[in-house]
Amino acid sequence: MTEAVFAETIAKDQRVEPRDWMPDGYRKTMIRQIAQHAHSEIIGMQPEGEWITRAPSLRRKAILLAKVQDEAGHGLYLYSAAETLGADRGDLTRRLIEGRQKYSSIFNYPTLSFADVGVIGWLVDGAAICNQVPLCRSSFGPYARAMIRICKEESFHQRQGYELLMTMMGGTQAQRDMVQDAVNRWWWPSLMMFGPPDDQSPNSAQSMAWKIKRHTNDELRQRYVDMSVPQAEALGVTLPDPDLSWNDERGHWDFGAIDWSELQRVISGDGPCNALRIENRRRADSDGAWVREAAAAHAARHQEVAAP
Ligand code: 3HC
Repeated sequence: MTEAVFAETIAKDQRVEPRDWMPDGYRKTMIRQIAQHAHSEIIGMQPEGEWITRAPSLRRKAILLAKVQDEAGHGLYLYSAAETLGADRGDLTRRLIEGRQKYSSIFNYPTLSFADVGVIGWLVDGAAICNQVPLCRSSFGPYARAMIRICKEESFHQRQGYELLMTMMGGTQAQRDMVQDAVNRWWWPSLMMFGPPDDQSPNSAQSMAWKIKRHTNDELRQRYVDMSVPQAEALGVTLPDPDLSWNDERGHWDFGAIDWSELQRVISGDGPCNALRIENRRRADSDGAWVREAAAAHAARHQEVAAP
């Protein structure tokens, strides 16, 4: 594939495959976005993982276990997509641990009650679905195909969270208060998952031109608000934004100003749980080193034996 063929592939909404010619910038952007996405899935196991041993019933424990295991699988899927571009997952993990690569800001907030598990499923996985469904049409083949499988599992994640909250909202006043408290803490950080506003998004223009991204940050954020408001009403919770109001002219929900300084603080490492999340990831990586070494030794031995 040459530059002209690459441009034609993008223009025709066709897929770029790992062995095709691609601009260095395209490869770099894809590794950056896929790695960040993979890191987000793996770090994203921690907030809810803290509640697996404290789930209120065997059913809730089994559901939560399945969800957290899914996130691990999503991460491994995405690291494999990054490897088709020549990235090395060990190197990507080191970049994450050393703060040279990012993961989603949303996972730097604490999970203070079991209602947080439901709100993460409803709002955080809901935001992920808004963001990831268009990525099923991303121009890079392995990434788009990974998204198709991941999105199917995300819809289970969102439904289990919403069902958990519906159950709690039908419970005691204390349980309803627990849900509202969690909504108050997670609503604004979930809006920040979509990235900075379009006029402060250095990567969007090029990513849209290469059809890596199919919608801008603000477009997806608006889609998410429009989806979430009726769901909040059905649940019986109040979203913590006094400026939320239906705009007939726009055909969308208007919402209040987002505190972008908070997003910048959390992205730069100054969120409530950044240090904890990275320390947990560093320890898991070092505790698991012997498994990787044993697997590599076994594979090498196996190759020796199999060699003619
Ligand atoms: N958290 C951390 N970093 C963020 C961020 C956030 N919420 N929003 C933006 N950033 C970073 C970007 O990575 C970029 O930094 P970089 O150039 O060093 O990578 C910088 O801020 C500027 O942002 P841009 O809008 O210019 O960057 P992008 O064009 O990459 O857009 C994005 C950001 C919308 C997050 C895009 O990267 C994307 O769609 N990524 C894939 C989806 C993803 O990663 N989702 C994260 C959640 S995964 C998840 O929710 C798992 C689910 O199971 C719960």
